[in-house]
Amino acid sequence: MIFNQFEEFGNAIWHYHLTGSIVDEVFKRIAGERDRLAAYISATGSAGTIAAGDYLRTRYPLIKVAATEALQCPTLLRCGFGGHRIEGIGDKHVPWVHNVRNTDMVCAIDDEQCMSLLRLFNEETGLEFLRRRGVAADVVGQLPLLGISSICNLVAAIKTARYYEFDSRDVILTPLTDSMELYGSRVAEQRKLHGPYREADAGMHHARYLEGVGIDNLRELGYYDRKALHNLKYFTWVEQQQRELEELNRLWDPDFWEETFAQVHEWDGLIDEFNKRVGLL
Ligand SMILES: Cc1ncc(COP(=O)(O)O)c(C=O)c1O
Repeated sequence: MIFNQFEEFGNAIWHYHLTGSIVDEVFKRIAGERDRLAAYISATGSAGTIAAGDYLRTRYPLIKVAATEALQCPTLLRCGFGGHRIEGIGDKHVPWVHNVRNTDMVCAIDDEQCMSLLRLFNEETGLEFLRRRGVAADVVGQLPLLGISSICNLVAAIKTARYYEFDSRDVILTPLTDSMELYGSRVAEQRKLHGPYREADAGMHHARYLEGVGIDNLRELGYYDRKALHNLKYFTWVEQQQRELEELNRLWDPDFWEETFAQVHEWDGLIDEFNKRVGLL
């Protein structure tokens, strides 16, 4: 049996309960007394991880949930398509398991920006530049935790903060969905393409792609924008994947999602039973 992560609710249910509660726990651990959990940012591939935003909405109703994608494949921003270099996200359709009604903002991020920051964060000249700019050594030391889609989330977090004019009380959390373990060859490719990383490159990338991050290629979703994204599912899932129209219509109903996420207890029971049966417990 082949599980399709784009349409298996288990994917979203897992992230709702686990990623969601972990994000909540992290916020509680780091937040000052007057801080707000202002936004949760998630790049969408199968749209499992963004379901943590549904969990957080139940605890922090005013939170902004932002979906990020590549500007070169702006499906949520412009019903667009295209090849891009942010690996693991953006498959040119709206996943069945994405509760678009809970998404407040779409941020499309230029993949060139992600690749340039990948170099800034991983070339010795880039790291030295950041240290000299006053970035703390422990932060510089942790930059390899960010792979390409994590950098995409980071840039989207800055954009979201600028768009909503967040201040020092507003906390944004975003998962780092990949790390540099996967991308050594991508850094080598960039070196081959653009030559050795020089101080001038680091300065330019820092100024243009971090300090200069603006609010371009964002879309705050209104009711009918969300409905348009929901409707876009029709072409993939009903026309091509033989889903029933009634099933699609149900995805627009908030009760459907509440009921679906509540199935976790039933699922846990089934998993325990299965594990017992195969001798894992
Ligand atoms: C590197 C990377 N980033 C982001 C994502 C997106 O996560 P999700 O599929 O839960 O939307 C994936 C998905 O596999 C991924 O591999």
